[in-house]
Amino acid sequence: MSADSEAWYDETARAWLLDLASTSYALALAANGTAVRHLHWGARLGRQAVAGLADAARSEPSDWERHRSWAAELPDEYTPWGGMRYDEPSLKVSYADGTRGVEWLYTGHQVTAQRGGTTLEVVLADEAYGLQVTLAYRIYQGFDVVERWARLTNAGSLPIRLRQVLSANWWLPMRDRWRLRYLHGGWGAETQVAETVLGPGKFVLESRRGTTSHQFSPWFTLDPGGTATEESGPVWSGELAWSGSWKLVSEVTSAGRLHVTGGWNDFDFSYELAPGEELTTPSFAALHTEGGFGAASREWHSWQRAHVIGHGDRTGVIGRPAWVARPQSRPRPGGRPPGGGGTAGPAVPPGLRPVLYNSWEATSFGVSQDGQERLAELAAEIGIECFVVDDGWFAGRQHDRAGLGDWTVDQAKFPRGLTPLIERVNGLGMRFGLWVEPEMVNPDSDLYRAHPDWVYHFANRSRTEQRNQLVLNLARPDVAEWVYRTIGGLLSQHNIQFVKWDMNRHFSEPGWPGAPVSDPERIWIDHVRNLYAILDALRADHPEADFESCSGGGGRADLGILSYVQQVWTSDNTDAWDRIKIQDGFCQAYSPSAMMAWVTDNPNWLTGRRLPLSFRFHSSMAGALGIGVDLTGWNAAERAEAAKLIATYKERRPVIQQGSLYRLARAADAPFAASEYLASDGSELVILSWWGPGQLESGPRRLCLAGLDPQAIFLDTSTGQRHHGSVLMQEGIGLPGTVGLDFGSSLIHLKREP
Ligand code: GLA
Repeated sequence: MSADSEAWYDETARAWLLDLASTSYALALAANGTAVRHLHWGARLGRQAVAGLADAARSEPSDWERHRSWAAELPDEYTPWGGMRYDEPSLKVSYADGTRGVEWLYTGHQVTAQRGGTTLEVVLADEAYGLQVTLAYRIYQGFDVVERWARLTNAGSLPIRLRQVLSANWWLPMRDRWRLRYLHGGWGAETQVAETVLGPGKFVLESRRGTTSHQFSPWFTLDPGGTATEESGPVWSGELAWSGSWKLVSEVTSAGRLHVTGGWNDFDFSYELAPGEELTTPSFAALHTEGGFGAASREWHSWQRAHVIGHGDRTGVIGRPAWVARPQSRPRPGGRPPGGGGTAGPAVPPGLRPVLYNSWEATSFGVSQDGQERLAELAAEIGIECFVVDDGWFAGRQHDRAGLGDWTVDQAKFPRGLTPLIERVNGLGMRFGLWVEPEMVNPDSDLYRAHPDWVYHFANRSRTEQRNQLVLNLARPDVAEWVYRTIGGLLSQHNIQFVKWDMNRHFSEPGWPGAPVSDPERIWIDHVRNLYAILDALRADHPEADFESCSGGGGRADLGILSYVQQVWTSDNTDAWDRIKIQDGFCQAYSPSAMMAWVTDNPNWLTGRRLPLSFRFHSSMAGALGIGVDLTGWNAAERAEAAKLIATYKERRPVIQQGSLYRLARAADAPFAASEYLASDGSELVILSWWGPGQLESGPRRLCLAGLDPQAIFLDTSTGQRHHGSVLMQEGIGLPGTVGLDFGSSLIHLKREP
C-alpha cells in the first residue's frame, strides 16, 4: 500500500523521518551536533519509534568497540575525513593553513515542497574555516526513492582544496553476508549481471574513463544473506546520476557494518573552492523494497519515467552558462511539442518512443541522397515513424579515419544538402533523425587543423588515438560554445526531430595546458557539466527534437544522461539472442522505454548468427523498437511480416514502454527467457518469450505469470482462450507453437474481461 511521502522533524529527538510510499528513511543529529547520523532505512517506521532510535544512535562507540577497531566508524550520513576515521570518507579537504581534517557543527535545516516531492536540506559547517555542507534528500510522492546530493560552500576568505567529494553515504542495516549485484561488461557485451558476497573490506566499482563506460554501470543492489529472489525478499538498490568518471565503494567497516558511498571518482581529482564558491555533487538515488529484484527494477522504471527521463538537471546547477545564447523562440513549421505528435511525422502517443529506422548497419559510411531515399520509402511502407541517418553524411567522412569535427553536409553524397531528403522523409509521414558525435575530432579534419589545442592533451606527451579520434576539451568554454552553436545550427537549419548523440572513445591524456584554473583535474567535472548544459540548451531551443545517448553502444547510460535524453542505444551487439542478456541487465537499472533495440540483418554482423525474423523482432520489442536492416535486401514476404510485427508492436507499445516489467525467466539461469509487461491498471499484459539453443532437453512448457488479479478472467486476444488470473499465476500459461525449437519466440497478449 502506498502512503503519502513526507519529511518530518522531531524537535525533541533532533531527528528527521522521511516517510516514503512504503518505506522509511531516518537520520538524527549526534549528541553535540557534530554529525548527522543514520538511523534507519527499510520498512515504514512509526514516528514514535524515531525518538528511541535516535537516542540509541547518539551514543558514541563503547570502550570495547573502540578497542576492537581502534576507530570511530559511526554511521555518518556524510563522512568527512578527520578524527579516528579509516573507512571511505565522503569528503576530504585541505585548508589553506595545512589543516586537513573537517569538524562539523550543525547549523540548521529546511524542508521545501516542490515538483511532486519534498526536499530536506540539513546544513553543517566547519566554522573555523567557513566550509559548509548542505545535505539534500529529495523524496517523491508515491515512490520509495530517496535522491541525495551534497552542496559545499566556501563561506570563508581563503580557498579550500577539495580532494574527494562524494554524493552520499548509504548505511545498510546490520545483517550478515550481503550479496552485491552489479553490472559489468565491455563493448558489445554491456550490462552483464554479476554478483559477489561482500566480506570485510572494500569492493570498488568505478570508471576512470571520463564517461560512464561499458565496463561497469553506476548501479547496484544489495540483499542480506543472498536471500532475495526475483519477486521476494528485501533489496536495497542505488544508482548515480553522473556521466563522467565515478566511483561506488561498498565497504564492510572494521566495526562490521556495511556502507556504500559514491559519486565523482576521487582518482586524479582536485577542486579548488574559491571564497564564495559552491560545488554541488551529482545526485545519488537509492531505494528499498521487500519485493525482490523485480520490485526494485519496477520502482526504478516508474520513477525514471515520472521524474528522470528527459526531465533535465537534477540538482539545479546546470543553468545556462554565459557561452550558451538565450533560447531563441522560433517555432519551426512542422515542429511539435516535446514528446507529442506534430505535423511533420506521425502522431506518436505522448510519452511513447517512436519506432525508428537507423541506416548504420545497412549502409555504414556509404550514405547518399538516393540510397537513403530508397531506404526511407521502404521504411515508410513497413510503418517506421522516425528515419535516422547515421554516420557518414558529413564532409570527408568516407571511413572512420577522417571528418569528425567538420559538421557540414557532404556535397558529393547530398548535392542539395539534407533538406531534400528530410522533405522526402517528412512527406512519407516520418520524422527525420541524424547521428552526430560532437565531443570528438579526427586529426584528419579541418577543425583539428585549425584548432589542434582544442583536444585534451599533455605537453610533451603523445596524443593517444582510439578509432582514429581525439576527445575535444569540452571543459573549455570556447569549445563548449562551438559544439552548442554547431549542433544548434544543424537543428535550426533542418527539420531534425531526433539526434543520436554518440561518443566513441574514452579520455586519455586529460590535460589542458594553459588552463585558467589552478586545478587541471577539474576537466573531469567541467566536461560533463558542459555536455549537460549543451544538451539542456539544445533541448530548450529545439523542443521538437528528441535525443538518444550512444557511446560505442551502451557506454553512456546512467541517470545523469537520461535526464537529458529520451533513450539510450543499448549495444552495438545486435545479435537478438545476445541482446536478451544485455537487455536483462539494462532493465535491472533502467526503464525498457529508454532501451533502443534494432532488428538487424542475417547473419548478424558481429556474431555471424542467423535467427528467425520473428525472434529478432520479439527480442527488440522488449524495449523501444527500431529497425536496422538493409531494407533493400528484404523480399516482399519479409517486408509484409515486418509490417505486421511493427503494427503489433505499436498496439502493445503502451504496455511494453509504460507497464510494469516482471522477469518471468532469465537467460542467466537457462537458455530461455520471458518477460511480462503488465499495464498499470492491470487491464492487459504482454508476455514475450525467447528460447535459446538446447530447447529439446530443457525448454519449458508452461510459464507462471505474476502481478495479476487472481479473481480476474483474461482473454488471449490471438487464440480467444480465457484464463483465470489465479491459474495463470499458479499453474502458468501453455507456451505456444514454437516450443522445442531453438530460437523460437512468442508474443502473447492477454486482456482482462470486464
Ligand atoms: C558507434 C555506434 C553505432 C554507429 C557508429 C557510427 O559505434 O554505437 O551505432 O552509430 O558509431 O560510426
